[in-house]
Amino acid sequence: MAPPRSKRPPRARPAARAASAPWSARFAEPVSVLVKRFTASVAFDRRLAQVDIEASLAHARMLAACRVIPRQDLADIERGMADIRAEIAAGSFAWSLEAEDVHTNIERRLIALVGEAGKRLHTARSRNDQVATDVRLWLRAEIDEVDARLAALQDALLGQAERHAALVMPGFTHLQVAQPVTFGHHLMAYHEMLERDRARFAGCRTRVNRLPLGAAALAGTTFPIDRERVARELGFDGVCANSIDAVSDRDFAIEFCAHAALAMMHLSRLAEELVLWMSPRYGFVRLPDRFCTGSSIMPQKKNPDVPELVRGKSARVTGSLVALLTLMKAQPLAYNKDNQEDKEPLFDAADTLKDSLAVFAELVAGLEPVPEAMRAAALEGFATATDLADYLVRKGVPFRDAHAIVARAVREAEGVGCDLSGLPLAVLKRFSPAIGDDVFDSLSLEGSVAARDHVGGTAPRRVKAAVARARARRGKP
Ligand code: ARG
Repeated sequence: MAPPRSKRPPRARPAARAASAPWSARFAEPVSVLVKRFTASVAFDRRLAQVDIEASLAHARMLAACRVIPRQDLADIERGMADIRAEIAAGSFAWSLEAEDVHTNIERRLIALVGEAGKRLHTARSRNDQVATDVRLWLRAEIDEVDARLAALQDALLGQAERHAALVMPGFTHLQVAQPVTFGHHLMAYHEMLERDRARFAGCRTRVNRLPLGAAALAGTTFPIDRERVARELGFDGVCANSIDAVSDRDFAIEFCAHAALAMMHLSRLAEELVLWMSPRYGFVRLPDRFCTGSSIMPQKKNPDVPELVRGKSARVTGSLVALLTLMKAQPLAYNKDNQEDKEPLFDAADTLKDSLAVFAELVAGLEPVPEAMRAAALEGFATATDLADYLVRKGVPFRDAHAIVARAVREAEGVGCDLSGLPLAVLKRFSPAIGDDVFDSLSLEGSVAARDHVGGTAPRRVKAAVARARARRGKP
């Protein structure tokens, strides 16, 4: 079916007036003030200014090299852009709502500074490929910063894990004491999560690092441009292969938010544990006072606001991901103004993740575990019951039978009100003749963790090896 034709009523168009008006020659009246405010993005896309200028300079150098603009124009553009950079850095650049977005603001200022040459800059490009390029350049730098901060948090975890490789705490499943683990081993679990986060961001970076410029509005340009040259100059790995995809694609931003949401989920789990561990009911760790806040009414309180906020902020990053997925799902190709809405969620996701990583790196480095509290808790939940079962298996009892024997022993200990290791040998022997006086090595917390001596296990020497391995990996370029 043919698309519907719009039947516009004939309009009186005062050509002479439109030509001299400050608004586009295409329109018979200026945009309403409300619409101007509604459509403008300069309030938030100004943070793209430096990358916008960088991309414009690369574009201008290519235009000159391909003889699309004269050499002198390039020199004028370079001079004007240097001034603009200085104005922005000094805070004296006059951002205007009138000019809508960062791109037009800078272009207008360039024209005011250098005249004709400034008007030629936009040859062979559109704001559609320009904005896609800017966001990619900006995001690439953000990914590098995120990676550095993930690595810094990993370093803090490694430091603590090394110090506390042998410190015994209860490990939980279903939030019930399960088996003894070491604090170092527990922290190294987070190190692993962050390692995967870093790999995900590195993968995302390869897809971010493609140049959209040259796609122009959507169909490409009639000028003899050299996209590869621009890509090289801006440090891109290559150019976007399809001009329509180049201006409409925001997968890279969605991917970033997905990885950011996942990383924040990891931080949120750590936050949750810190909140529990800091609660007097657990008392497993103390946070230095600089990370705690008081209550305005209860003088005795020391609250874990920082972990709580990280847990809370993970919600907004997940929100950014959902926002971007929803933003894109019904957009026809190619560019639509909807895309302007990609920036705030993306910016916020990056800011929130970076802040959370920075604050957690410091906080983790400052954590002070409380060994007595961890030990007391580990002794409470029959954490070495599996060790007793494994002991029986080593003496020839089938595991299922061993499981039942230990369950009976646990009931006995529960009745008496002691740990398994508190039962006299004679009592233990009643449950199985296979039990000998060497059983207490298996029932001690230290014996339990030391026995899990394989790659990925909680034995102190394995934790130290995992730390060393992680450090060695870091040493590699
Ligand atoms: N401010 C716009 C954005 O963020 C720039 C691109 C505008 N392009 C257009 N055809 N209106 O997406």
